[in-house]
Amino acid sequence: MKITIVGAGAVGASCAEYIAIKNFASEVVLLDIKEGVAEGKAMDLMQCASLNGFDTRIVGSTNDYSKSAGSDIVVITSGIPRKPGMTREELIGINAGIVKAVSSSLLEHSPNAIVIVVSNPMDTMTYLVHKTTKLPRNRIIGMGGALDSARFKYRLAEALGAPISDVDGMVIGGHSDTGMVPLARHATRNSVKVTEFLSAERLGQVTEDTKVGGATLTKLLGTSAWYAPGAAVSALAQAIACDQKKMVPCSALLQGEYGLKDLCIGVPVILGRNGIEKIVELKLDAAEKAKMHESAEGVTKTNNLLEV
Ligand code: 2OP
Repeated sequence: MKITIVGAGAVGASCAEYIAIKNFASEVVLLDIKEGVAEGKAMDLMQCASLNGFDTRIVGSTNDYSKSAGSDIVVITSGIPRKPGMTREELIGINAGIVKAVSSSLLEHSPNAIVIVVSNPMDTMTYLVHKTTKLPRNRIIGMGGALDSARFKYRLAEALGAPISDVDGMVIGGHSDTGMVPLARHATRNSVKVTEFLSAERLGQVTEDTKVGGATLTKLLGTSAWYAPGAAVSALAQAIACDQKKMVPCSALLQGEYGLKDLCIGVPVILGRNGIEKIVELKLDAAEKAKMHESAEGVTKTNNLLEV
């Protein structure tokens, strides 16, 4: 199992670190355009191997895509992160050109790879990779929902005063401050609906805090987050590499599911060795359906800014 991560910034390096620590890949290639950065981070990470007990070989490269050849999974984190006060959508101008070029170069060297897209605006960048590479939809996965769901669980556990292992929940919809749809009605603590324990008002707060999860961190850090995004990618890569058939919300190209088509947006999918092996269609109630459609309108509006 060979995995290439393009972009050796904080998110890319975190992905490499978590993938290595989970020890399911034989090789991780970290690639960046900045001279020496990927090589340096790869070497630093390799010097953790004996301490953290992993055998994954991490290789760094400055812009040499031949090093990525034959990858099973490729991860695109390239582009600029947002600064405090910015929306993810504002990054489209710079990131679209980068993601387009990176996805073509990656596929040239790894024609059979499954692609995980992290760059923002994530749903639109996932759609752009579809348009650029024309790969079948099972092979292109946008990371957002996995991250947003982890943030939802964090907020639920906080509100419940419970350990995170007690709670379960999912966020579907677009990976944006207004577009996320945390499925509060379905969230549980040890299989009991959290609506049994939390007032509608408290649950509403959890939902709002989840939706601005990335913006809250960007304000605190001065740039966007990296640990949870890195961990989310590593979980997706592991589900694919180990053929786990895990149900995870991810940005997928819809072709009529949820009454939506020709856009990528967060929905629960089954992830296995073939990438998106199934799109799971949940029975949403009227309010959830309305939120999902409103979210899709936002994503489509951003997609329309693409020159493809
Ligand atoms: C976030 O929400 C990177 O968009 C990402 O932190």
